[in-house]
Amino acid sequence: MAKVAFIGLGVMGFPMAGHLKQKGGHDVTVYNRTSAKADEWVAKFGGKAAATPAEAARDAEFVFTCVGNDDDLRSVTLGETGVLSGMKAGAILIDNTTASAEVARELEAAAQEKGIGFIDAPVSGGQAGAEGGVLTVMCGGDEENFEKARPVIDGYARMVGLMGPVGSGQLTKMMNQICIAGVVQGLAEAVHFGKQAGLDIEKVIEVISKGAAGSWQMENRYKTMNAGKYDFGFAVDWMRKDLDIVLTEARRNGSRLPVTALVDQFYGDVQQMGGKRWDTSSLLARLDKK
Ligand SMILES: NC(=O)c1ccc[n+]([C@@H]2O[C@H](COP(=O)([O-])OP(=O)(O)OC[C@H]3O[C@@H](n4cnc5c(N)ncnc54)[C@H](OP(=O)(O)O)[C@@H]3O)[C@@H](O)[C@H]2O)c1
Repeated sequence: MAKVAFIGLGVMGFPMAGHLKQKGGHDVTVYNRTSAKADEWVAKFGGKAAATPAEAARDAEFVFTCVGNDDDLRSVTLGETGVLSGMKAGAILIDNTTASAEVARELEAAAQEKGIGFIDAPVSGGQAGAEGGVLTVMCGGDEENFEKARPVIDGYARMVGLMGPVGSGQLTKMMNQICIAGVVQGLAEAVHFGKQAGLDIEKVIEVISKGAAGSWQMENRYKTMNAGKYDFGFAVDWMRKDLDIVLTEARRNGSRLPVTALVDQFYGDVQQMGGKRWDTSSLLARLDKK
C-alpha cells in the first residue's frame, strides 16, 4: 500500500483515482478545482480531500495529475500551490493528461531540481476504459522511476508500456491520435457511402468487420453512427486539442501529416455545427448534413 495523491477528478480522473483506492488499496488523497467533485469522490470511495494540489501531495510517494491541457497542468504542478511545492524528495509525479512532449520535459526539469521523479503517462481507452480500470498507459521516463510506479499504475490499467525518456509517452499518444483521425474519417465515409447506396449497414458491418477493414472504431461506434447519436464518448473539443499538439510536434520534427491536418479541419466544421462535446465519430454528421 502506498501513499498516493490524485489531482483532477474529471471523466477520467474520478474513476482512475477510485481504482487506486479500491483495487490498489492505496491511501489516496484527492484534489479537484471544483471542490464538490472531490467531496463526491470521498463520499463514494473514502480517502481524503485536500484544499490545494500542494496539500494533497504532501508526504505522498506517488502523485498523479489528470487535467485538461498544458496550461492546466502547469497550474496544478508549478507555483506556490502546485504539487511540486508540496512533494518530498524521492517521490514520483505521474502525469496522465494528454499534453505536449515539451511540457513533459519542462516538468521533468522542475521536478529534478527538487529530487522528484517524473513520468509522462497519457492514457487511451476512454471513459469506459477508465471506469473499467483497463486503460492503456504510454509512459516516458527513466526505468528506475517506471519500475517503482508501475505496480501503482496497474491499478487502473490493462497495458502499461515504457516508451523511452520523458516525452515519449506523449509522442506515443500522438501516434495513437494520428491513427484514430484517419480511421474514423475512413469509417465515416464508408457508412455515409453505404447509406447513400441503400445498403443495410448492420449487415455490411457484420461481414466486413471480420475482414481487413475491421477496427476498434468500427466495432464500437458503427451502431451509434448509424443511428446518428453522438452525445457521449470522446469530445471533439478534446480531439482538436490533441490534434493541435500533434500538428505542432509534426512541424517541429519535420513529419508530413496531410490526412491528420485535413481531419482536424473537418472537426472544426463539426464544432461549428454545435458538436463541440460530441463523440469523435461525429465526422459522419458532417457528411450526412443535407
Ligand atoms: N475523456 C476521454 O475519453 C479521454 C480519453 C483519453 C485521454 N483523455 C485526456 O485526459 C485528460 C482529462 O480528460 P477528462 O475527460 O477527464 O476531462 P474533464 O472531464 O474535462 O476533466 C478535467 C479535469 O481537470 C480539472 N482541471 C482543468 N483545468 C484545470 C485547472 N486549470 N486547474 C485545476 N484543475 C483543472 C477539472 O477540474 P474541474 O472539475 O474544476 O473542472 C477536471 O477535474 C485530458 O487531457 C484528455 O485529453 C480523455
